[in-house]
Amino acid sequence: MNHFKPVALEHASRLVNHGPTVLVTSAHGGRRNVMAAAWSMPVEFTPPRIALVIDKKTWTRELVAASGAFGICLPGAALVDLTYAVGSASGRSVDKFAHHGIVAKPGPRLGMPVLETGCAAWLECRLLPEPHTEDAYDTCFGEVVAAAADARIFAGGHWRFGDDNTELQTIHHIGAGNFVRAGGILRAAPA
Ligand SMILES: Cc1cc2nc3c(=O)[nH]c(=O)nc-3n(C[C@H](O)[C@H](O)[C@H](O)COP(=O)(O)O)c2cc1C
Repeated sequence: MNHFKPVALEHASRLVNHGPTVLVTSAHGGRRNVMAAAWSMPVEFTPPRIALVIDKKTWTRELVAASGAFGICLPGAALVDLTYAVGSASGRSVDKFAHHGIVAKPGPRLGMPVLETGCAAWLECRLLPEPHTEDAYDTCFGEVVAAAADARIFAGGHWRFGDDNTELQTIHHIGAGNFVRAGGILRAAPA
């Protein structure tokens, strides 16, 4: 059963606010790709905009520049091996979707591949034209135009991490193939 539900765009920044390692998806001219990215963050509220570091040497970067769009998928803990694998090899000469048996569907607004099985959420982003990005920087900016999340872990605009959804909890790369899983909620006293 699929538990994905649309996320209101005003809540989209909350999906990446806590710094999950994500899967960046791309597609252009009949080719598609997916890579891991640890460096992303929300940068604007309305419309929701996200900064994402995509190394200029990657195949992803070429596809994103050509299509003007990318997808961001949040792998749950169950996808830690897949996340590391797609971040450790380029898709220039191999279709990583076929190679790893990844099931994806086209996003509703831009047609970017989005993964739901094993993922907590996804966002579709329109690449914002930015001369500095094109010339010098690896940082890309995207405007979120669609988002959805598995209601078992994100609903009503809020995350809910619990013992019943550990496999969907987001992962955070701490280096050399080591990740920590979100969870371990600490609730601050009312200020
Ligand atoms: C856990 C992890 C996090 C990564 N984070 C980033 C990142 O934030 N930005 C980036 O450009 N590359 C990052 N990488 C490296 C890319 O995923 C890697 O270069 C990938 O092979 C590029 O694939 P492509 O050429 O098919 O696009 C990361 C790799 C791993 C394993």
